[in-house]
Amino acid sequence: MIKDVLESSLIASRNWQSVLEAYKSSTPYNYVVMDDFLQPNICKQLHQELLNHLGWRYQDDIEQPIINNMRPDIETIFTIAESLKVHCPSLFSNYELVEHWALMYPKNALGKVHSDIGALTLNIWLTPEQYNLDSSGGGLVFFDVKRESEASSNKPSSYLWSEQYVKDFTAGQKVSVNYKCNRALLFDARTFHQTDTFSFANMKPESYRINLSLAFDNPDAYRDRVSSFTKALTNKSND
Ligand SMILES: [Fe+2]
Repeated sequence: MIKDVLESSLIASRNWQSVLEAYKSSTPYNYVVMDDFLQPNICKQLHQELLNHLGWRYQDDIEQPIINNMRPDIETIFTIAESLKVHCPSLFSNYELVEHWALMYPKNALGKVHSDIGALTLNIWLTPEQYNLDSSGGGLVFFDVKRESEASSNKPSSYLWSEQYVKDFTAGQKVSVNYKCNRALLFDARTFHQTDTFSFANMKPESYRINLSLAFDNPDAYRDRVSSFTKALTNKSND
């Protein structure tokens, strides 16, 4: 199995020891940027597989139009997740792929500050470079604040969404990573982050900014965290 994954790897060859070191040494963010992450033909293939997928839905309850695709059943994504466990066991061996989703943005915008629910998040940007009208931005901003590991009943907003929480706890540092096609960002899911202002051509779905996210975690811990997050949100909405 391990030999099969390595031989048929969809991920480009990489020094995984450096990945591990970059992740650990980038405290307080704990992130690593991996350019040319997939084999070039796989990046194009995955972009096309997602565009052709029928699971896209407009997200409700937001001012900004975002089209999401929750858990697209695309084999390439599951193979990428398996490859990560083989290539970088120090980070991934205790975790499984617990969730994955893709977001497509038909309008240019700025994302909301939030943290993710899992333990580790891998984002992969798939829209070809030619559609990105501002190569100096359009990626992700990391803030120097992490959410608490578990939801807290008296501070529910600190758990996932909170610009205020970041304002309260930041030491004033943040780091921006520019958009690049086939660039992957691996980061501690607790680190607050925000999609940076972006400017894409937006003429047709091929030119919309597409972000694929893979969440890794211990499945039981993830389930508990989702459940406590849901409870925290319910309590908050009952306040
Ligand atoms: Fe996120």
